[in-house]
Amino acid sequence: MTLERDLPIGVFDSGVGGLTVLKALRERLPAESLIYLGDTARLPYGTKSAAAVSHYALQAAHALVRMGIKALVVADNTSSAHALEALRAEFPGLPVMGVVEPGAAAAGIASPTGRIVVIATESTVQAGTYPRAIHNTRPGARVISKACPLFVSMVEEGMTDGPIAEQMARHYLDPLFAAAGEGKDGGGKDGGGEAGDCLLLGCTHFPALLPLLRRVVGDDVAIIDSATTTARAVEDLLDHRGLAATRPAERARVRYLATDAPDRFARVAGIFVPWAIPADAVELVDLG
Ligand code: DGL
Repeated sequence: MTLERDLPIGVFDSGVGGLTVLKALRERLPAESLIYLGDTARLPYGTKSAAAVSHYALQAAHALVRMGIKALVVADNTSSAHALEALRAEFPGLPVMGVVEPGAAAAGIASPTGRIVVIATESTVQAGTYPRAIHNTRPGARVISKACPLFVSMVEEGMTDGPIAEQMARHYLDPLFAAAGEGKDGGGKDGGGEAGDCLLLGCTHFPALLPLLRRVVGDDVAIIDSATTTARAVEDLLDHRGLAATRPAERARVRYLATDAPDRFARVAGIFVPWAIPADAVELVDLG
């Protein structure tokens, strides 16, 4: 497979939430052209089995590879948790970056005492990939994984703050962080104490809740957003492979593809990115 520096990067997600990763990539790598593919016909992935998610992710990756890409970014946490190895095996030579490894590494560094709470979809939690990846970089860490499925629909409804959103966030997170005040020094060694001191956002949608989550967990908790850490990792990967784009930033292009409902894609996109995406700019694709 020949990889050209000025080919686009393919970015894949189950739907629209992966635009948080696209946004981080555009900020970090403005000269890169991007093709974003959201599998809106089969959303959500977060409630599906490992086999279904891997099958969908491989189909999406094949579609992007057929269009010509120099690297694949798996923005979807659920696909990153279940399908990354299968994707790397299917496309040897193509740089494939998921969101789990960069997020896990950043959490391992940011957590003062190794008490890390990962919030994600049900399917990502079941995969156990985040705790494994965190333990690779921080062996003594005490990782608690918490499925927060209602956050996904709440964000897609545009409810990123306000009393209902706050109640939901407190329902999920207070039991894991309420002791933060007294547990902050909790034992002073990795894994000691009760309350988390680091919150890892293991789902595309959760960066949209950042101000609310900050208020709920308090200022002493490190919050890691895997979208920004992934953009940094993609930059390193491209540099390492000699694949960084050479064009001026104003010539970089972004294409949007969806497998269903471009209108909804365009409408919900406004929750995740500050620029408008008109429905007629979203191309329909059939993954077969
Ligand atoms: N993109 C998914 C993730 O990051 C959330 C939405 C879904 O369940 O498909 O896990």
